[in-house]
Amino acid sequence: MCGIIGILGAKPVQPLLLDALRRLEYRGYDSAGMATLVDGRIERRRAEGKISRLAELLERQPLAGTVGIGHTRWATHGRPNEINAHPHAGERVAVVHNGIIENFRELREELEAAGYLFETETDTEAVVHLIDSYLARQMGPEQAVAAVLGRLEGAFALAIIFAGRHDVMIGARRGSPLAVGYGEGEMFLGSDALALAPLTSRICYLEEGDWAVLDGTTARIFDRDNNPVERPVTQTALSGALIGKGQYRHFMLKEIYEQPAVIGDTLRTFVNPQSRAIALPELPVDFATLPRLTISACGTAFYAGLVAKYWLESVARLPVEIDVASEFRYREAPLPEGGAALFISQSGETIDTLAALRYAKEQGQTILSIVNQPESVIARESDAVLPTLAGPEIGVASTKAFTTQLTVLACLTLAAARARGALDEKRAAALSAALTEVPAHAAEVLNHDEAIEAMAHGIAEARDVLYLGRGPMFPIALEGALKLKEISYIHAEGYAAGEMKHGPIALIDEGVPVIVCAPSGPLFDKSAANVQEVMARGGSVLLLTDAGGRRRIGKGPKWTIELPAVDPFVAPLLYAIPVQLLAYHTAVLKGTDVDQPRNLAKSVTVE
Ligand code: AGP
Repeated sequence: MCGIIGILGAKPVQPLLLDALRRLEYRGYDSAGMATLVDGRIERRRAEGKISRLAELLERQPLAGTVGIGHTRWATHGRPNEINAHPHAGERVAVVHNGIIENFRELREELEAAGYLFETETDTEAVVHLIDSYLARQMGPEQAVAAVLGRLEGAFALAIIFAGRHDVMIGARRGSPLAVGYGEGEMFLGSDALALAPLTSRICYLEEGDWAVLDGTTARIFDRDNNPVERPVTQTALSGALIGKGQYRHFMLKEIYEQPAVIGDTLRTFVNPQSRAIALPELPVDFATLPRLTISACGTAFYAGLVAKYWLESVARLPVEIDVASEFRYREAPLPEGGAALFISQSGETIDTLAALRYAKEQGQTILSIVNQPESVIARESDAVLPTLAGPEIGVASTKAFTTQLTVLACLTLAAARARGALDEKRAAALSAALTEVPAHAAEVLNHDEAIEAMAHGIAEARDVLYLGRGPMFPIALEGALKLKEISYIHAEGYAAGEMKHGPIALIDEGVPVIVCAPSGPLFDKSAANVQEVMARGGSVLLLTDAGGRRRIGKGPKWTIELPAVDPFVAPLLYAIPVQLLAYHTAVLKGTDVDQPRNLAKSVTVE
């Protein structure tokens, strides 16, 4: 998703803007740019592609000035090229924008009729000319922006500077996050606290519909009806240090290897180390009487929720409904009186998940969320938050966020099971113990990295790849397919193993690798039968199992990865790791941009 930075400063702003744009790279983008005030005039530098291209341009043509805005663009309207890169500007005003202006065509027609010439394909350019049209009527910046905001439809975060005005910068948020940073004699605007971290730790998150007029020392904030409002200024915990890759080639590999540690960190917030009992914080939900839990999320976070559905219904006997947020937000699902809804989101900013949350809130549900960004809008709009302690996840493909989401969901399952009297003490203790052993087992699984890298050679040239799983391994199959798709660009599908004979088996031939996730347990023999069906048709099987499964299946599969034998309850946490590594090594072989795959964004804040 697009990234925004604005600085109303007292020192040269170019290097600060460039550093902030580098910190926003993880959001995913395809062009970048900045604008500053040079002797009162607006000057811009923009480049297609990576920030390094913009940095090279600035080397050749540096930008002076102490006031500026910067942007990393994830194209929604208009091709990812220099002309469509932000900031967009006229003589009087420059704008950077995250989101979609849904009525930009009508505005564009009106402005063209008034004589404005448009040079880009973007929706943002309409905002520039609309502000200009009000400034041209002798309105000041504040009045002009107030008038324009009342005419925009859709989602946006904006940062705006004005020619000749070194004393004012304006930000606005509706649907896309925007934070105000308070410096010493300087003020900032940013898409998230990570971008602002080196500049200030004093952050104020604008609320839905807010806009803010910044001068050199403070911000005057207004709500959607232009009433002055106060918003709390918080001390962000984010470090200013740029997160590095350490000795790893990519952030994604670093974050895969961080999983044993961050699963342990997350567990420790929920498990009493002495008794090993699960101890969730006080939640505004009585699991003993809860009629149903509705879960909604997107992408990988949705697959975490799907694993939780299996867990909550089988272990806690709690009815669960689950849907992807982009569907749930529109299908007007009737929700039960006294129900609760759980939203899972690494970024805490995904607009579909946020919209689903707001629907559930309107329906009177108690809102819980599991996020990796406790200061995010989803966290702020929840009644209670269960944080994952994954640390910043820079790779666009989610890995450690997924396994820490599963960690929290497993703890939630055990807490709900105890509240509902669905688990006897002995079984509860066994499952808690199995959970506390996951970090060590996860570290063992990483020892298969080299073997998996070798297997990737057998996947990298495939046209299609199938992932199969049963029970809680079905969402792991879905997740494995998503990982492969999104970073290697190979078509892959996850399927409930039992469904293969209802169609996908027609795909099987020697060119289609099939990844089967099948720990020992009650469903193993069913999955083993699917393995036989695939092999009988010449398919190459990569079997993820344990020693028991390996013994039962015999020599058949082309590759077998033997994972630690664990309680089936915690198996999804471990089986996620090999499918992450397989996707990673396949992508490296394909030569794709592993950390920032094409067309993808880390935080999807547009519909
Ligand atoms: C996962 O690898 C993808 N990058 C994507 O599916 C992601 O999980 C999805 O966009 C949800 O993001 P969130 O967890 O920040 O809400």
